[in-house]
Amino acid sequence: MDAFEICGGEKLYGSVKIDFAKNSLLPLISATVATGSTVCFPSFPNYRDTEVLLSIAEHGGAKVERKNGGVKIDSSSFCRGVFPDKLFREVRASIFMLGGVLARLGYAECPLPGGCRIGDRPINLHLEALEQMGANIRCDGEKVICRADGLHGAKIVLPFPSVGVTENVMIAACLADGDTEIHNAAIEPEVMDLKNFLNECGGKIATRGRTFYIGGVKKLTGCEYTPIKDRIEAGTFLYATALVGGEVAINCVPEKKICSFVAKSGNNACKIKCFNGNIYISAKGTPFSCTKISTSPYPGYPTDMQSQVVALLSVAKGESIVSDTVFPERFACVEQLKQLGADIKVKNGCAIVSGVRSLKGARVKAEDLRGGAGLVLACLKADGLSAVENAELIDRGYAAIEDKLSALGAKIKRIKNYRG
Ligand code: EPZ
Repeated sequence: MDAFEICGGEKLYGSVKIDFAKNSLLPLISATVATGSTVCFPSFPNYRDTEVLLSIAEHGGAKVERKNGGVKIDSSSFCRGVFPDKLFREVRASIFMLGGVLARLGYAECPLPGGCRIGDRPINLHLEALEQMGANIRCDGEKVICRADGLHGAKIVLPFPSVGVTENVMIAACLADGDTEIHNAAIEPEVMDLKNFLNECGGKIATRGRTFYIGGVKKLTGCEYTPIKDRIEAGTFLYATALVGGEVAINCVPEKKICSFVAKSGNNACKIKCFNGNIYISAKGTPFSCTKISTSPYPGYPTDMQSQVVALLSVAKGESIVSDTVFPERFACVEQLKQLGADIKVKNGCAIVSGVRSLKGARVKAEDLRGGAGLVLACLKADGLSAVENAELIDRGYAAIEDKLSALGAKIKRIKNYRG
């Protein structure tokens, strides 16, 4: 596995181009397979996770063409409902393909999904929703076998606004017979991006608050589509600059909760201004004041920024409390942050972060995508040399993060097949 070698202490200056949202592209690839038509994405970033999903689509018979930085997917010849075990287990989002493939082919067989180790990743809500739409689903140990002679509309009430379940059902419901309602649905920007995409493909989806109304259609068409930008990547660069100091322009404004934390807790050491779809941050790199943060489904503070905020608060003044109500065990990076000198205790789904004056470079290991991003931020701040191992986990959701950071002045480089 590769590692990022980082020499901390450099401020960041310049501008950074944020890629299209990984968590949009993954359901969009799944929805493309459901259309049975051709979809063009004029520009397509190179995330490991999207590459895996494209390979799964090709395995099923879709034709994927990469040209001039874009991707064209023709899923008219997608005909295999049995998903490839190894690829499917690599990415949690592969489960998002289930509904569309089942609706199109009447059969889908997949292993239990994998993804980041950020706590229990059950798929019960996915399967229960598809059963409500008429699917016959059997789990035998490692495999899920789904059959359906056409899906029918249903009224799905989610116990939790699950992003993936909302997306899976939305795709399947577009091809179901009759109307489907999803209540207590997730409303993350990426979910709304998928809704817009499906409507471009002939879908009939309307939303009111957390309720989605989906009219089934016989067939979806193709389209040309440009997704939204990645608010989590933008937030990650915003926090990196707030942490180490500097002046950076970012061509994507993350939502209010991500920005207000920096503006509020930055002790006037951070000035933020938004203009024309860009956000400009000027930061001294001095310690933040301590605070309490709890993640929750959109429009709450996003769980995908939790590791990055813990890294930032590890050198704040005083004691902060960070809790994650979405993934209560998503604190794998804490043990690694402690290698850098952070003082953090994790108890009942909360991280108690006692700010320290400085962090010291060390060899640390990414255990998941966003935890790895948090470690990169901490190493940019730490005195001396660090190495963040398992860089490929970070590549899952950041395209060439080391190039973007070094273009801003960070001392970071990739060491292939790192041996320490
Ligand atoms: C999506 O994962 C994102 N992934 C995650 O981003 C993100 O953290 C998460 O939503 C929450 O915003 C993609 O979009 C590809 P959920 P998803 O279903 O859909 C429980 C990243 O770093 N649940 O909203 O898997 C689940 O255990 C990734 O980019 C069930 O209990 O998240 C969790 O506690 C990480 N049963 C909660 O719901 C189910 O069948 C939230 O999960 C499904 C989910």
